[in-house]
Amino acid sequence: MSVRIAPSILSADFARLGEEVGAVVTAGADWIHVDVMDGHFVPNITLGPAITAAVQGESAVPVDVHLMIAHPERFVDAFVEAGADYLTVHQEACPHLHRTLQQVRDAGARPGVAINPATPVSTLRDVVGEVDLLLVMSVNPGFGGQAFIPASVRKVREARELLAAAGSEALIEVDGGVDASNAAALVAAGADVLVAGSAVFRHPGGPRQGVRDLREALR
Ligand code: DX5
Ligand code: ZN
Repeated sequence: MSVRIAPSILSADFARLGEEVGAVVTAGADWIHVDVMDGHFVPNITLGPAITAAVQGESAVPVDVHLMIAHPERFVDAFVEAGADYLTVHQEACPHLHRTLQQVRDAGARPGVAINPATPVSTLRDVVGEVDLLLVMSVNPGFGGQAFIPASVRKVREARELLAAAGSEALIEVDGGVDASNAAALVAAGADVLVAGSAVFRHPGGPRQGVRDLREALR
């Protein structure tokens, strides 16, 4: 399958969320990325299961939930019930990461694991068999609109090597500062899913054009 584009609703107009989701899906977005922040794991608070369920009801594309929260194991069931297809937890937030990933799968979603810019890819070696998604953060999580960290391209390459060595078919996702200027390099390094918030929803030509520009950059 071709590269998936996953607009992050964090940068959408929340007062018109349904329309915004509809617009990007019409323009060819493959997934919708939902950024959940708790004010503890990251210094910002965003949204929870109710908004996730609303987004899920607006389109048929997979809902990709990124939990930037402490104790994510407490909320796995709530987000699966809200319609999360992929449910990603942070390695740094999970002392019992292996168990939490199994909990996600048992609850009925596809488990993902995310690493912050400071966390080496090698820390995931012993959980690769448990995940369907490996998320390389290319900014420090907490806010949309931050500058892409260039070393993330190397980490995507390392993630690709790790998955190949393990015989895993998990997808590699990149999140943070992704735009038309770095998309092709990320895909060349091995990325399967590109998350983009501001490059889509703050695009001067509107969100539809944001999706189209990303797709164009990959041709
Ligand atoms: C960052 C979030 C990202 C962010 C992406 O903490 O996980 O999904 O919203 O937004 P941009 O693309 O603007 O960096
Ligand atoms: Zn995210």
